[in-house]
Amino acid sequence: MIIVVGSLNMDLVVRSPRLPQPGETLSGGPFATYPGGKGANQAVAAARLGARTAMIGRVGTDGFGEMLRISAEVDQVDVTHVLPTPGMSTGVALITVEVGGQNTIVIAPGANAALTPEDVDAVAPLIAAARVLLLQLEVPLPVVIRAAAIAHAAGATVILNPAPAPIKRLPPELLAHVDYLVPNESEAAVFLDESGGVPPEVLARAVSAVCGVPNVIITLGAGGVAMFGPNGVTILPAFRVQAVDTTAAGDAFVGGFAVALSEGLPPTEALRWGCAAGALAATRPGAQSSLPMRDEVLGLLDGRCEPAP
Ligand code: RIB
Repeated sequence: MIIVVGSLNMDLVVRSPRLPQPGETLSGGPFATYPGGKGANQAVAAARLGARTAMIGRVGTDGFGEMLRISAEVDQVDVTHVLPTPGMSTGVALITVEVGGQNTIVIAPGANAALTPEDVDAVAPLIAAARVLLLQLEVPLPVVIRAAAIAHAAGATVILNPAPAPIKRLPPELLAHVDYLVPNESEAAVFLDESGGVPPEVLARAVSAVCGVPNVIITLGAGGVAMFGPNGVTILPAFRVQAVDTTAAGDAFVGGFAVALSEGLPPTEALRWGCAAGALAATRPGAQSSLPMRDEVLGLLDGRCEPAP
């Protein structure tokens, strides 16, 4: 089973000819709402790829919260432990997407910020029974640390996607419990004093050394991925796709990687799963709306099909 401890957000998205400059007002295109949040996106990504998946998090008692719980449940995510939180609004992400698919995101965490270590303790047996635990940084750090400690002590594989980028280095009491750290390039830079112009494979090795995490995977978008682990460096190119919206492509990568690992595939093969899931997600608008099904990922991995727009 895959357990996700993390955020649920309603994404409020506007498409724009380009990303605005500070102080600038732009007239954009259509507006849409999509279920999102890095935690929920990774849970839905794993469930669509066939893993038994449960989510631990908090939403408000507003309409957005109920919609997020229902949509994750429709995707077969167990939301028993997604708790409605009286007096709090559900997390919201304000997202601008430009024509090339790149985005900017500002989050109002709402109920995500109310998740506590005690909430995690209440489901400790569930976390301890997981094969893989997925964590991000959109819920309070003490929550992430507690969940990682429980899973690690029970022998689960702990994957931390340090997004959004931490404002300062993560504490050793968290990193000691992490098996795979999966930052993008800018998130990876936070772990080092100087990273400009460093090749990704060198960056991955350096982050592993600084953090003491055995495996570091740096996601590079259209540049693919670089992993440093006990067997050295692995670099994989990205699947070539026409990106329309990169929102949640990183979450799709993490979900795909986690599912493959949970099925016993070697990490190098799991990287391919992650790359395929991430590439497919970039071809479609929205967060959870863009996440691929298992057949689509297998089709891309087998070369049986081209990613559909
Ligand atoms: O990773 C994409 C996600 O980041 C969006 O769905 C948004 O909610 C923010 O959490």
